[in-house]
Amino acid sequence: MDENTDSSSKTGSLIPNRREFLKLTGAVGGGALLGGTGVGEPEPTLDRSLLPDASERPEVRVIATGGTIASTEEAAEDGGYARSEGAEQIVGAVPILEEFVDISYESVANKGSSSLLVEDYANVAKAAMRAEVDGVDGVIVTHGTDAIEEDAFFNDLVLDLDIPVAFVGAMRAGDSVSADGPRNLLSAVRMCTRSEFHLSDEPSGVYVVLNEQIHAARDVTKTHTTKLETFDSGPAGPIGAFTDNELMLYREPGSYTANLSNYDLDAAPEMVVPIVATGAGAEAYVTEQAAAGEYDVDAIVIQATGWWGGTAPDVSGPTGDALDAGIPVARSTRVHWGPMNPGYDDDRVGDIVVMEDLPSWKARLQVILALTMTENHPGYDDDLEMIRETARESKYALDVAPRRQSSRVSLGGPFRLVRHSSAR
Ligand code: SIN
Repeated sequence: MDENTDSSSKTGSLIPNRREFLKLTGAVGGGALLGGTGVGEPEPTLDRSLLPDASERPEVRVIATGGTIASTEEAAEDGGYARSEGAEQIVGAVPILEEFVDISYESVANKGSSSLLVEDYANVAKAAMRAEVDGVDGVIVTHGTDAIEEDAFFNDLVLDLDIPVAFVGAMRAGDSVSADGPRNLLSAVRMCTRSEFHLSDEPSGVYVVLNEQIHAARDVTKTHTTKLETFDSGPAGPIGAFTDNELMLYREPGSYTANLSNYDLDAAPEMVVPIVATGAGAEAYVTEQAAAGEYDVDAIVIQATGWWGGTAPDVSGPTGDALDAGIPVARSTRVHWGPMNPGYDDDRVGDIVVMEDLPSWKARLQVILALTMTENHPGYDDDLEMIRETARESKYALDVAPRRQSSRVSLGGPFRLVRHSSAR
């Protein structure tokens, strides 16, 4: 990708900022707004002399999985919305993109995101790896927002790419009033074509890009069922945000996960790892069945309460039975942010793996991948130890050495990050 075009010299990206778009389409300097001409005025035309020539244009691969971003109200019979759009139609909502980037497509699923399987997540990872081999400059995964953080986190654990991967969704259907999908897609293209997100000495990272913010896959979570401003990275904060003209970079781009190796993407979908939740007087039938040998599980993830990770008595009891039966048990917290006390369960210290500040749905994916690593990882033959090792490596308080030599700056304190800057 050549960063020295007219557009990149002004914005740091081959994608022009909004004002440059307006100039290109004649809206600034005497012309009319694109698509907004008055009666009798001529249609605006692009000033093609300002466009990059074909050899300078980056290529992004759009990998489609479904979700609201692929939906329209028109396709629904019940007044809601339904999936109706392929990847080309989603990109077609931002027609001017094709003047600046080459876009190739792959569809791996067409589902609501809560219906996606671990197998689908693995297929997204394989498609992203293929895209890098094909030489594209970035990957954009179009996805439902309900489980976007899970698929993005899974992919961040397994992908070690030189190119960035942006997961993009929409809270509103494509033909709804003020649909957000086109804007989110444009943000993802802007991100993928910026040099800040192309890291040469560590994985370029996996991000969730919505509402003009760029979030690290590890930290981001959906916080509201309907609002546009639903994605939040809590105390860690977003990596960056786009204005019309600028990228505001708040944290160092890159992966904030453990970046696993020796995992087996084909074995991951076979793993049976239930999440057992607590609540006042809750019971853990699933754990009881597993401990009794009547339900064959590979591990259990407890969704416990706060810093101490306490659970209801009828959840704790069967948890001990499961450990006695040799089933690996990991503990996560149902609290939105913050770590857990690793010393809980005095008589069980070391038996239960504390999954740091991961929510149970992300902890479960990390456990699943860790279970596939034992066979392929020299020196490890114990599932519990492998889960513990990956949890330790992904601990935020540790300055974990990535697989590649890192240029990440460490402050030596509990947080890995780092620099505040505003990049044009
Ligand atoms: C889904 O997650 O597939 C449906 C909801 C959405 O995309 O916002």
